[in-house]
Amino acid sequence: MVKARNFISALMSAMSNCSLYSKDHAAVDEFSRKSLAILENILRESDNFEIMIIEDDLIINKTSFKEIGLQVDNLKKRLKRKGISCIEFLPGVTFKELRQCIPEILEFDKKITVFPHIKIGVLDIQLEEAKTEDDFGSDDISDFLFKQIEHINEIFKDISSAQQISIPRLNQVIGNFVSAFRKKTNVLNLLSHAKSREEYTYIHATNVSALSIFQMRTLGVKESLFLRDMGIAGLLHDVGKLFISEEILGKRGALEEKEWAIIKLHPLYGARFLSSIKGLPRLAPIVAFEHHLKYDGQGYPELQVCREKQNICSQIVAISDCFDALRSTRPYQKGLEIKEILPIMEKDTARGFNPFLLENFMRRMGKELHVFC
Ligand SMILES: [Fe+2]
Ligand SMILES: [Fe+2]
Repeated sequence: MVKARNFISALMSAMSNCSLYSKDHAAVDEFSRKSLAILENILRESDNFEIMIIEDDLIINKTSFKEIGLQVDNLKKRLKRKGISCIEFLPGVTFKELRQCIPEILEFDKKITVFPHIKIGVLDIQLEEAKTEDDFGSDDISDFLFKQIEHINEIFKDISSAQQISIPRLNQVIGNFVSAFRKKTNVLNLLSHAKSREEYTYIHATNVSALSIFQMRTLGVKESLFLRDMGIAGLLHDVGKLFISEEILGKRGALEEKEWAIIKLHPLYGARFLSSIKGLPRLAPIVAFEHHLKYDGQGYPELQVCREKQNICSQIVAISDCFDALRSTRPYQKGLEIKEILPIMEKDTARGFNPFLLENFMRRMGKELHVFC
């Protein structure tokens, strides 16, 4: 971490000189060279050097950077202002690339160049509501759900095979769920059961998405754009698992300690991947990163920095996630009935969930169940 700290310090000095004087000032050259020398040194021992900003955390090469100082704070502010969530430096990075990207990061309205050895992930803030064709019309609810699940399966296949997400398709399918709720569809009608481990990935994602939109609505949020962002974040919360081997994910029997350690990296893998996709809501990597943190500060990834509590949307997804995990049948567990799940989750209040959100979820779910039966 000493080299990382020195690199950030030199980089921030280059940025400060750039904004204080001009982008062509000699001091910017000097500190850019200094940062490059440190970076080259780091990249001699590593395949990449990565800086990520997730909510208030600075993550450097998969480890949360515990140092809180003016320069770290300034770096976070600069990157956040520009909407940058991730910068990856690769071996071969040149002075020209580093020198060019520094002013581009600082200038708010300047587009960032695509560099061969510096990959910069920028998340879009979507100001306009996406135009989604309302797919929820005369269809029977089970036909509607079947169609959406087909789309979601395709979205997950694209992620696995090409590490890509079709944003229009994603907006469309989650927009359809938002429309379904607007038409007062019972959330229980939008949940399904996976028949195999392969199906579990995208069926669980679909269920968590629907449950999270449902929670948002019951909390009084009616704005379609917010609901859609919530649905997208819920859908992609576990996307990091697609970067973990099937051997570990599908293992029958108890996991070894080192296998658990790998599974626990999925929030970080997910946040890193989602940060690199242009056009996703900011909420998606935040929720992916935080969905296994607990309300009392426990959980994982273990953070070594003081920070504000989990984002409220991550708290919502944590409830949806646990609920769906308990109702799903998996190799090591038979799915529970909803009536059995609610008391189990209630007992967990002190440890795991935001009590206000959980109480709301239980009450509203109880109502849905009553209407459904
Ligand atoms: Fe997860
Ligand atoms: Fe999950």
